Amino acid sequence: MSKVENNIPVIHGFSKLNRRQRMELLKEFLEADDNLLNFIDSWQHPDPELQKAFAGFSENYITSYHLPMGVVPNMVVNGKSYIVPMVTEESSVIAAAARSAKFWAEHGGFRVDIVGTEKKGQIHFTWNEDKNLLINQFNTIKKRLLAVTDSITQKMRERGGGITAVRLLDKTSILPGYFQIDVSFETADAMGANFINTCLEAMAKELERSIAPQGSLEIIMSILSNYTPDCLAKCTVECGIEQLSKWNGGMPPQAFARKFELANRIAQNDISRAVTHNKGIYNGVDAVILATGNDWRAVEASGHAYASSQGSYRALTETEISETQFRYTLKIPLALGTVGGLTKTHPLARLALQILKKPTAQELMAIAAAAGMANNFSAVSALITSGIQRGHMKMHLPNMLKQLQATKTETETAMNFFEKKEISYAAVKSFITRLRSENGK
Ligand code: MEV
Repeated sequence: MSKVENNIPVIHGFSKLNRRQRMELLKEFLEADDNLLNFIDSWQHPDPELQKAFAGFSENYITSYHLPMGVVPNMVVNGKSYIVPMVTEESSVIAAAARSAKFWAEHGGFRVDIVGTEKKGQIHFTWNEDKNLLINQFNTIKKRLLAVTDSITQKMRERGGGITAVRLLDKTSILPGYFQIDVSFETADAMGANFINTCLEAMAKELERSIAPQGSLEIIMSILSNYTPDCLAKCTVECGIEQLSKWNGGMPPQAFARKFELANRIAQNDISRAVTHNKGIYNGVDAVILATGNDWRAVEASGHAYASSQGSYRALTETEISETQFRYTLKIPLALGTVGGLTKTHPLARLALQILKKPTAQELMAIAAAAGMANNFSAVSALITSGIQRGHMKMHLPNMLKQLQATKTETETAMNFFEKKEISYAAVKSFITRLRSENGK
């Protein structure tokens, strides 16, 4: 099963093994015993049908990895109240989103405009003849490219989607002979990655077939672009500055609003702060995306590229304050789907969509944008007032106590003691040690 090449053991044919064989190999590799295998087995789902479904999601499956799913009530988006499911391992994310959601529910909610829903894909190729020869035949070829996608796009067209534009782009200033066919898509309620890639591959084959002279073109690759600046949500919250008193940590609301605006301007101009600021937005966005079975890597990649689209990496948010009004806006690309893929096959993604009352893709974009805004608003408000550590550490306290193997009584005593005290691992450890020595343990 494993051969040695250049003194490094290389495992061959791993994916061909069945799960039990993979586990045995893992045991051998780690020089572990059956306890490890039993532990891995214990995380499988007891229902054989569900277990089969989970195992089918990934190559080389050994077991299922659990993450907590929580819900955020009171998320009012475009006048509709949602209970939003979120999957995240960061204990403070749901608390922060919930606090913000409740506040904004009482102040008009999150207003989200879906600025666009267009996605695109590209056929990258090189052309080694006179470029006019290519340009002159493109209009004819374009019709053929569309014709070969007819059967692929039929269902999507019935749902209001399909291919909306096909353009030839001259990229020879980047690389000699380099051109693109840039294809725009509407994918209705699907995220559409498979649909787009299937269309592009069929089009690329047809391009090679129909081009004259034959052999003058080399397809490099055909793939959707995860950069989706035209699949964009714009989320706004707005209230009178006086109403921000819940967040101002004792300072006058005007001073809070001014400091908030300054914090946002720093994040618009300093990359180190901007990345952390945007990470706080994705704390909420990713948790919704993960819960609903969408592709968070695609959404993150697009968002960070979008944050750099003006030439330097900046915050995705804007603050506007007047004498009396506070307005905060987030613009974020979100290529999401509510049909197809994991949204159908993962029972918990299905549950998440059910909790959201079966939203359309545009509705889900709006909810995810609102969740991002909710988390970011809470984070920045805490940062410019008490700092985030107090809240974070409070959420973290039960984990620390667990790590210290605190009993139920020790946990309760510690929770009471630290209610109004500075929390750190060292302080908690010394408290538990003291408690135990007082109790003669
Ligand atoms: C932590 O997960 C997120 C924050 O760092 C975001 C921010 O700094 O704005 C609190």
